[in-house]
Amino acid sequence: MNVDQVLQNAESAVGQARDEASLEAVRVRYLGRKGELTALLKSLGRMDAAERPKAGAAINAAKERLQASIADRKQALVGEQLTAEIAAETVDVTLPGRRPAAGGLHPVTQVIARVEGIFTGAGYDVVAGLEIEDDYHNFEALNIPHHHPARSMHDTFYFGDGTLLRTHTSPAQVHVMESQEPPIRVICPGRVYRRESDLTHTPMFHQIEGLVVDRGIGFAHLKGTVTDFVRRFFDCDLALRFRPSYFPFTEPSAEVDVQCVNCLGSGCRVCSNTGWLEIMGCGLVHPNALEMSGIDSETWSGFAFGMGGDRLAMLLYEVNDNRMFFENDLRFLRQFN
Ligand code: FA5
Ligand code: MG
Repeated sequence: MNVDQVLQNAESAVGQARDEASLEAVRVRYLGRKGELTALLKSLGRMDAAERPKAGAAINAAKERLQASIADRKQALVGEQLTAEIAAETVDVTLPGRRPAAGGLHPVTQVIARVEGIFTGAGYDVVAGLEIEDDYHNFEALNIPHHHPARSMHDTFYFGDGTLLRTHTSPAQVHVMESQEPPIRVICPGRVYRRESDLTHTPMFHQIEGLVVDRGIGFAHLKGTVTDFVRRFFDCDLALRFRPSYFPFTEPSAEVDVQCVNCLGSGCRVCSNTGWLEIMGCGLVHPNALEMSGIDSETWSGFAFGMGGDRLAMLLYEVNDNRMFFENDLRFLRQFN
């Protein structure tokens, strides 16, 4: 092979070297001790003495050119690498910052806060009750003695030592009446427990109790308060009905139904085809209940209500299965952030 050809091959290999290691391999291949140009130099000895100087000069010139090309290529590669590094490390200060992942309040928590806001705005205090109650506060003091058939309406979790998981927030009323003088205006939100489970019932759910005790309180006060509350809570005029009912601790008693938001009253699975969803029980506080907690029923009268916090959340957010609130599926919960 002649010098020009070797040089041409070598230069094209230099041009193709993508990094310093492959460039070094090219150098070794042509200029190393066993390199191709080196071999040509060594072959000079076998040449005619007359041709030797010219050929020698040509090989040396090729060698110098190749060395220069390698040096140039090396510099270019270092430059390219530097540019790549700088590009990779560039910080685009105009990009928006990364937000920290923020949690959100559970829809039922939001509903309870909404209810608290409406009632505290009307001068009510918020009182926390106890989740573990005794038989006296959960039943007895609410005019539900041991033999009373209303006990079977509450499928109770008992601990076996006279304590139980409260089945409603009404025992909070008792604590308030035992410890405060009228006039009383409180709401008591919290968790309650019953042994039941289906579309609209979960073993743990939330109630918000309300209690007003003052002089001359009558059913009109209760009806006005509930109607005004429902209007504020749903921010619209949903149909509402008071259905005569029975609770041992109120007389007269009623249950309040709201038009089913799922079917708008035409009847569906959620409302058991009635078109209505019960949101609370209420009534005028039974004189026995007032007296048992030390309030003179001749001087004072009151109304009370207990509403389902989860039912309110279902209605407000148009969720048709109560159980979704407790499955902790983030895809569901994130919709309320
Ligand atoms: C009571 O618990 C009475 N303590 C309410 C009351 C308070 C009456 C004060 C009078 C005066 P009731 O069992 O109906 O009543 O429950 C009240 C509300 O809780 C119901 O209207 C319903 O909205 C909700 N609720 C009842 N059981 C469940 C359940 N398992 N899951 C979800 N919500 C429920
Ligand atoms: Mg009921």
